[in-house]
Amino acid sequence: MEKIIDENKQGNTLVLEQKAENKRKLFIESYGCSMNFSDSEIVASIMADQGFNTTQKLEEADLVLVNTCSIRDKAEQTVRKRLEKYNAVKRDQNPKMKVGVLGCMAERLKTKFLEEEKIVDLVVGPDAYKDLPNLLAEVDEGRDAINVILSKEETYGDVSPVRLNTNGVTAFVSITRGCDNMCTFCVVPFTRGRERSRDPQSILEEVNDLWERGYKEITLLGQNVDSYLWYGGGLKKDFVKATDMQKATAVDFAKLLEICAKAQPKMRIRFSTSNPQDLTLDVVETMAKFDNICKHIHLPVQSGSNRILKAMNRLHTREEYFELIDNIRRIIPECAISQDMIVGFPTETEEDFKDTVSLMEYVKYNFGYMFTYSERPGTMAGRNMEDDVPEETKKRRLQDIVDLQRIHSEIRTKEHLNTVVEVLIEKESKKSPDQWSGRTSQNIVCVFPKADYKIGDFVNVNVTDCTSATLIGEGISPS
Ligand code: SAH
Ligand code: F3S
Repeated sequence: MEKIIDENKQGNTLVLEQKAENKRKLFIESYGCSMNFSDSEIVASIMADQGFNTTQKLEEADLVLVNTCSIRDKAEQTVRKRLEKYNAVKRDQNPKMKVGVLGCMAERLKTKFLEEEKIVDLVVGPDAYKDLPNLLAEVDEGRDAINVILSKEETYGDVSPVRLNTNGVTAFVSITRGCDNMCTFCVVPFTRGRERSRDPQSILEEVNDLWERGYKEITLLGQNVDSYLWYGGGLKKDFVKATDMQKATAVDFAKLLEICAKAQPKMRIRFSTSNPQDLTLDVVETMAKFDNICKHIHLPVQSGSNRILKAMNRLHTREEYFELIDNIRRIIPECAISQDMIVGFPTETEEDFKDTVSLMEYVKYNFGYMFTYSERPGTMAGRNMEDDVPEETKKRRLQDIVDLQRIHSEIRTKEHLNTVVEVLIEKESKKSPDQWSGRTSQNIVCVFPKADYKIGDFVNVNVTDCTSATLIGEGISPS
C-alpha cells in the first residue's frame, strides 16, 4: 500500500492524452493507495480543461500537484521530503512554479499547510477537486487558496478521467468514496468523509468506454467496495429512509459486479478492497458465476486476536473470518486471498500476536501487506489508547509475519507449477527484455518469452518454474 510510485517516471502513452492547445504544464505525483492514483486521473482531466498538459519534468512545471497519503506517519514524512525537493527546484530553477497539496494530508492538516510550509500555494481535499479552477484563479492572482470541504454527494461520476501513466491494458474505476466503518486506527473516515456510491450508469459508461479504447482489465475501487449501494444517490447510512421504489431498484455490489461482467464479458474485472464484515456470499457467488471476474479477494483482517479486533472496531471475530474463508474456498476453490495486517496495535500482547500468526497459518494467504501500528492523530485509538507496544517489539513482530507470509506465498505460488494459467500481458518483464510480464486471474505475476505475443493479449501459459511470488512459464497459445 505504501509502495510509492512516481507517476511521472513512466507513462509512455501519456503523450496520447495531451491536448495540443494546452500551454501550461502540470507535474502531478501520487502517493498512497490506488484511490489516490485514480483521483489524480480525475484531477488531470479537470486540469486539462484549464489548459494544462502533464509533464514529466519537474523543472518545467507551472504547477506541481502532489496527491498525498496520511495512512501512516511514514507516508506523511515521504510527502514532506518531496515538498522540500519542490522547494529546492522552485528556488534554484523555476521561481514561477506553484505547488498544490491534494488528498488526505490536505484534508488532515488543512490551513496548517499554508502556514507551516511556505512553499505550498494551494490545499485541496479529496472532495473538492472540481473547485480547482476557482482555486487556481486565486493562486494566479497571488493568493493562497484552500478548499477542504468534504461532500456527501461528490463521486466525480461525471468526470471522465485522463489515464495517466497507463499501460493501455489495466485501469482503475472508482465506485465508492469515503468510508463509514470507523476502524479505530484509521484516518480515512476523517480525510475522505462519509461513504457514498457512484451511479452504476456512469460506472458502466466508463467501463464500456475503457473496453472500446482497448483496455482489458478494470479494478473497481473503493475503501470498502462491498458496501457499495446505489438507490438514486445519498449516503449509505440514509438507505433506511429510502422509498420502497428506491429499495426495490437499489444496486448492491454483487449486482454491480454482475452488470459489469455481463456488459463486457471479455474484460477482466477485479475489485479492491473488501472489509470482511461487508463481503457477502452473494458477491462470492457472483464471482463464481462469471469467468471474467478475477478469482482474487483482498480481504484485510488486521489482527487474529478477538480482543484486538474488537479494540480496532472490526465488526467480526476470528471465527467468523474463518467461516468466511471456508465459504470462499467452498464456492471458489481456486480463489486467491490476500491480507493487510497491523502488528503492535495498542495493548497487543504476545498472546494476541500468536493469534495473528495462527490465523495466518490457517488461511495461508497468497500475499499480503503488513504494517507496524502508526498512531494517527484524531482517530479513536489515537485519542483513547496509548501507543504502548515498544518499537523493537513492533519491528520484531512485523519481521516474523513478513517471513511467514513469504513461506505461505511460496506454497501458494507452487500450487500452479505444471498447470496452465491464463495471463493478461501488461508490460515487458523488468528482468528481461525478451520476456512479457502479466498477471493471472488470481493476481499472480507471470513471466514468459515474448514470442509473437503483444501487450494486451490473453495467453495460456504453461508454468514450468516459480519464485515465491512469480510464475515462470512458456506461452502455449492465445487463450
Ligand atoms: N479499506 C482500505 C484500507 C485503507 S488503509 C483499503 O482500500 O485498502 C490500507 C491498510 O493500511 C489497512 O488495511 C491497514 O492494514 C493499514 N493501516 C491503516 N491505518 C493504519 C495505521 N494507523 N497504522 C498502521 N497501518 C495502518
Ligand atoms: Fe479504514 Fe477501516 Fe475504512 S481500515 S478505510 S476505516 S474499512
